[in-house]
Amino acid sequence: MARDFGEVIDRRGTGSSKWSRYPGDVLPLWVADMDFAAAPEIVAALAERLAHPVFGYCVARPELRERIVEDMARNYGWSIRPEDVVFLPGVEPGFNMAIRALLEPGQALAIQSPIYAPIRKAPAHWNLQAVHLPVDVPFADQTAALARADAVLLCNPHNPTGKVYGRSELADLAAATGDRPIISDEIHCELLFDGNRHVPIASLDSSVEQRTITLMSAAKTYNIAGLKAAFAIVPNRVLRERFDGARLGLVDSVNVFGLEAALAAFRDGGRWKAEMLAYLQSNRDWLVEALRSELPGIRMEKPQATFLAWLDCTALGLADPHEHFLHKARVGLSAGADFGAAYGQFVRLNFGCPRPLLAEAIERMAASL
Ligand SMILES: Cc1ncc(COP(=O)(O)O)c(C=O)c1O
Repeated sequence: MARDFGEVIDRRGTGSSKWSRYPGDVLPLWVADMDFAAAPEIVAALAERLAHPVFGYCVARPELRERIVEDMARNYGWSIRPEDVVFLPGVEPGFNMAIRALLEPGQALAIQSPIYAPIRKAPAHWNLQAVHLPVDVPFADQTAALARADAVLLCNPHNPTGKVYGRSELADLAAATGDRPIISDEIHCELLFDGNRHVPIASLDSSVEQRTITLMSAAKTYNIAGLKAAFAIVPNRVLRERFDGARLGLVDSVNVFGLEAALAAFRDGGRWKAEMLAYLQSNRDWLVEALRSELPGIRMEKPQATFLAWLDCTALGLADPHEHFLHKARVGLSAGADFGAAYGQFVRLNFGCPRPLLAEAIERMAASL
């Protein structure tokens, strides 16, 4: 039987960051997790692990490594080995570890613009110069900027626009970066619509693979971000050792439940994922129509991936769209300025929620204008 993704589950009082940030009357459509129940297969795997009452330090079981190897081959035609996988408590610690491993203060890191705030802040955090790559300009036309960068931190699929980079665009990026390292945040790689296919940049060819650190996770697709388990794929042994060495005593081992959940997700979660993606895509299409009819002053490019919609509110003529919708509509969105100083007229809306919540948010936003 198909699952009911339209069911509204009350998350208040569960320690959810999404539902704790704003007062109780605000509908939160900001941080990137979804308001759907996890796959029953994942819940069952967690219950089974809970039945064993010893929760000491843990490592990934060989089965999980093998599963990731199989998935990379099956999904992307990318052949990796079990030892290429490094487990981490999150993708965010992963790209910071990669930067720490690869770059010296004063060097330059290329990042897209707009971009997910922790990536935007990473260059300053590590005393690096930022080279900004506007997402609406093809990489082939940004070769001068890319020539100045000592490394690139790519986000594909892209947060916040939901853009999916195809093989030829990735090849242009790889060519423009010469033999310099690539850090590739591919956390949203399974959340694709309209038959789009994900291409890990490291799968282009072995020379790209050898200089790339790829970061992935079950967290976004299977809505288990709070379980804190992610992984890097680093086929180059020297690079992998440098990367792993950058833990610095700060990035610890992975949560026992996170590892169990990731294995259950990749092994048993396929049907749930397919049903969830169908629901998500219908939410996206509904949102496109709802904006057209109820909020025609807002522009949005249809996202090809993710549950994130990047809304251009310029034509509304508001001083601060995020503040406006928060205070006048009681809808909590992500502020565009978090993704880059030039994006104050944008907001990011998370449509990974039951349709009734999405519809309520749009109704409130329209009424506030
Ligand atoms: C592009 C991107 N990278 C990384 C993260 C954070 O991942 P994690 O919770 O595994 O650190 C997010 C979460 O929103 C994201 O959108």
